[in-house]
Amino acid sequence: MVLNRVLNILLFGLGVQASTGYLGDAQQQPMSMSKTGESNVCAMHGGSLPSFGYAKDGSHSVSALSPTLAIRPLAVSGPPENRVDLVFFSDGYTIEEMDKFFTDAKRLADDISQNQTFFTVRPLLNFWGAFTPSEESGIGADGVPKKTPYGLYREGTELRAVYYARPEVAHAACDSMGDQCNYPILLGNDPLYGGLGGEFTVITSSILNGPLVLRHELGHSIIDVGEEYDGGFAYFGVNAVQDAHEPVSWDHWLSIPPSTSGSINSDARVERSVMPMQTYPWTLLNTTQSWSIKFPASGLYFRHVVRFSLSGLPEATDLRVELDGIELDWVPKEGLGLDRWHYDIHRDGGLSDGEHILSFTLLNQEREGVAQLCSAEILEFGDEDEFVSSPGFYSLYPTFSDKNETSYRPTNEDCLMRIVTSPDLCKVCTEGLWIHLLKSVNLIDDLTESCTHSSSTWTKILTLDLVPLAHLRNPEENNEPINNESYAIIWKKDGIVLDEFANMTSIAIEDNDNNDQVLGRYEVFVKFSTDEIRLDEEGRTSSSRVYDVTTHCEDD
Ligand SMILES: *[C@@H]1O[C@H](CO)[C@@H](O)[C@H](O)[C@H]1NC(C)=O
Ligand SMILES: *[C@@H]1O[C@H](CO)[C@@H](O)[C@H](O)[C@H]1NC(C)=O
Ligand SMILES: *[C@@H]1O[C@H](CO)[C@@H](O)[C@H](O)[C@H]1NC(C)=O
Ligand SMILES: *[C@@H]1O[C@H](CO)[C@@H](O)[C@H](O)[C@H]1NC(C)=O
Ligand SMILES: *[C@@H]1O[C@H](CO)[C@@H](O)[C@H](O)[C@H]1NC(C)=O
Repeated sequence: MVLNRVLNILLFGLGVQASTGYLGDAQQQPMSMSKTGESNVCAMHGGSLPSFGYAKDGSHSVSALSPTLAIRPLAVSGPPENRVDLVFFSDGYTIEEMDKFFTDAKRLADDISQNQTFFTVRPLLNFWGAFTPSEESGIGADGVPKKTPYGLYREGTELRAVYYARPEVAHAACDSMGDQCNYPILLGNDPLYGGLGGEFTVITSSILNGPLVLRHELGHSIIDVGEEYDGGFAYFGVNAVQDAHEPVSWDHWLSIPPSTSGSINSDARVERSVMPMQTYPWTLLNTTQSWSIKFPASGLYFRHVVRFSLSGLPEATDLRVELDGIELDWVPKEGLGLDRWHYDIHRDGGLSDGEHILSFTLLNQEREGVAQLCSAEILEFGDEDEFVSSPGFYSLYPTFSDKNETSYRPTNEDCLMRIVTSPDLCKVCTEGLWIHLLKSVNLIDDLTESCTHSSSTWTKILTLDLVPLAHLRNPEENNEPINNESYAIIWKKDGIVLDEFANMTSIAIEDNDNNDQVLGRYEVFVKFSTDEIRLDEEGRTSSSRVYDVTTHCEDD
């Protein structure tokens, strides 16, 4: 499965803006380069990246030797040539830390696929760990990489993006694995938040944030969708429409189908909300002075949420958060330590017409130098009739970009592309995920011929190997079919349907030398169904295979 990588390389090589859409949460910072129109990737690296020119055909001109890789399976569902293969590459793990690397990688793979996020599509995926020892442990800081294979580093000491200094080495490593590497993931040995999307997904081994960044970035790169959170600048793919009057790509998921509200889409329901304030300060807090921001409200809404993200603040007594002088009783995520986390404080009642002030006051001087305010936002909503806030409601929810331009997303907060702390995708993204994966994975792994012999008769056997979905899923992982998954299978011989073999993955035909009934052209048609796919315009859930039986068992 090479297609996706080539596509990513193309976007990257051409300096296409879309690659910045993959930066995800780590990149929620004002990025001046997006305004100047420079290549984001270069600007983000402060121009310090070694240049590594890509040809437009996706080949790259800098050759580098792949580091030695010790490759182990983490969760393997089938042959690499018919699976989407995700590979964790080690950075900042010394030879003594090899076991830690495989443990970290396995934990991340399981977290995003064992019982949530990519669980239902897991039979289409393989996860591998590829270890290369680093001379030094950990990742670089202040823009200086350590002696590690891919040179991961942070720009300052703050928790935000983690960059790579040696993409050519990462390329060579992934290329050396051929079909076994479709989505390379550079895993940095660092306990705290950080990451980057794009051609390489960069994450850290942070217990709380590693899986969170990983599934969000993979959402971008595998489903090929933009953000759903506010304040970004890339909103595209199956989960975004720019205009409430244009056709809605998730029509077939809407809780109130357009047909019940008259003409299609011309009056699609839009949930009522507004974003009076949104900012990414990425600022270190101090006890000398509060950080605060003023913003106006209209007095026309009924509820609001104060949304912010912080790092370096492990205790509730470390910080006071106030809106118009009223303490919001912020409590840190349990077990977080100094890592970053996102907080939502929902409040009933509208904000009055006029100016308001949100402030963050560091109370514990010992946290100076680490306590950081990453982002802050205020959203206001209509009442429940005007804005359905409950999970599972599919509609058009306004999303506000960094320039306060409105686009629309399918659910309020059901999707990890919006709420990075949520483990699951919404149904629209999940359907997009299936369809994208099925572009690279054929439902039929193989069709093979064999013979059995008993007493005086031979039997010809045709065996169909399908991707283990529906009743073929691993019974240890789930013993009941999920989401009404099913495989419908039709066999034909010389154009005539073999009714007796309907839905069978293995068929047996008596093979007598004296007649030729076994010889001929066999065809098998497979159709996969799941409640998670409602629309399959390109026929990705169907597959077929032709097989000619030309010899008798006894001839072999
Ligand atoms: C998934 O499993 C992990 C541990 O294996 C558990 O903590 C988590 O709650 C489970 N999630 C769901 C949605 O069942
Ligand atoms: C965004 O636009 C809306 C509507 O014009 C306005 O009420 C709101 O204050 C704006 N928000 C920001 C952060 O500029
Ligand atoms: C303390 O924080 C305030 C608010 O963020 C900032 O304006 C000020 O420069 C900071 N002072 C120091 C000494 O860093
Ligand atoms: C299967 O489909 C039926 C009818 O659409 C639905 O009621 C039921 O919840 C589904 N079962 C599962 C396990 O998803
Ligand atoms: C084959 O399986 C499909 C899917 O479960 C089902 O709809 C169909 O009725 C089955 N066909 C036969 C002949 O049993």
